Amino acid sequence: MVDSEYVLRAATADEHDRFIGLFATAMMFESSPSDLDRELFEPERALVAVDGDDFVGTAKAMSRDLSVPGAVVDAAHVTAVGVRATHRRRGILSALMSRQLREVPEALAILWASESGIYGRFGYAPAAWGVSYEVDLHRVRPRPVDGDAGRIEALSAEEAPAQLGGLLREFQARRPGVSGRSEQVWRGQLQDKPEHRGGRMARQILVHRDAAGAVDGYALWRGKMNWGPTGPANEVAVEELVALAPTAYRALWHYLLTLDLAAKLDYGNAAVDEPLLQLVSNPVALNRRLSESLWVRLTDVPRALAQRRYATAVDVVIEVTDELIEANNGRFRLTGDTEHATCERTDATADLSASVTELSAAYLGGRQLAEFAATGRVVEHTPGALSAATAAFGWPVAPVSLEIF
Ligand SMILES: CC(C)(COP(=O)(O)OP(=O)(O)OC[C@H]1O[C@@H](n2cnc3c(N)ncnc32)[C@H](O)[C@@H]1OP(=O)(O)O)[C@@H](O)C(=O)NCCC(=O)NCCS
Repeated sequence: MVDSEYVLRAATADEHDRFIGLFATAMMFESSPSDLDRELFEPERALVAVDGDDFVGTAKAMSRDLSVPGAVVDAAHVTAVGVRATHRRRGILSALMSRQLREVPEALAILWASESGIYGRFGYAPAAWGVSYEVDLHRVRPRPVDGDAGRIEALSAEEAPAQLGGLLREFQARRPGVSGRSEQVWRGQLQDKPEHRGGRMARQILVHRDAAGAVDGYALWRGKMNWGPTGPANEVAVEELVALAPTAYRALWHYLLTLDLAAKLDYGNAAVDEPLLQLVSNPVALNRRLSESLWVRLTDVPRALAQRRYATAVDVVIEVTDELIEANNGRFRLTGDTEHATCERTDATADLSASVTELSAAYLGGRQLAEFAATGRVVEHTPGALSAATAAFGWPVAPVSLEIF
């Protein structure tokens, strides 16, 4: 163990490679930064802990938007959180998190956690569940696709941002939890560094075109050749599948589930209400598993609550506690419906009490406020307020986070 002081500061543009180098070592992956990675770096949003001349901790936020119930809002996409092994368990992560959360200009921060036990103490909560599939392709029985007047084609990574950008934006309007991508972010996302393929082939980009030739769905996937004792046992890894039209959704999945030579298909980022279940006659062959996906932390409670929309009309006073961000403490009156929302500080008596963690969990409509009443983390003071607020915070479509960032 090294015993020393450290300082926290924002990184500078020329420190990108050192910054990512430290994070890569903490996560145990090989870093090979590209010019595009350097262009996408926002140094003023990248915090570094420095001990002498050494980087010993990192955390950065990316400026991107996120779909939430009824709206698309700016959200700090937090990533590259790492502390050098020689300096762990002495508070560097805590210092990085509390400074970052107090400084983000957005009303919420989001992240994917490497380990479930890390971020709850900072007010983050899992707000979207992810479903992963490990499909046994020898066993699964996909239903046939009827009435598809369109076609499936391959697309190059160069063409993809222009062709798929509008489609993803439209998908954001349909599902909460989806991160937006500028053209440059698309290019970053589609970089296909050989050292990150895990032995799989280069990324394949498929699009479905409707009868008029318009792209109405896409899938990103890779294959891996494998040979088992009884013959070919190739593996198909689906990275992302987005479709706006039911035919596109059915056709793309049918294509991927019926590839010759393949024995297994993996897909990691499905929603809990993923319609794939309906496309096979024996869903048990999908081998589904539930896990935490997107974590949310409201950094400005009234602004965040006013930015989303509500499934049913709501008028409720919530007493909020927040140990980290002082301005979030107090009583706020939330009024809203499917079209608008306001949230303002008030002296009125509270109908409900909750900490910022429970409000963050319920923010995307993927978890119910009432879930937390059972353990006393949400307290109802006015009879009926909990079920009314739970219904309002819910949303007809479950959130999904398509990418681990
Ligand atoms: C996770 C990591 C960033 C923690 O950094 P750190 O500086 O050691 O954390 P801190 O000393 O500030 O710990 C703060 C608290 O979190 C706890 N904690 C730290 N890492 C934890 C983990 N992986 N699981 C559960 N709790 C953890 C600490 O015990 C401490 O608890 P306490 O406040 O009750 O004492 C560091 O261990 C790391 O770099 N791990 C590998 C990379 C990684 O997983 N990064 C996260 C990517 S999402």
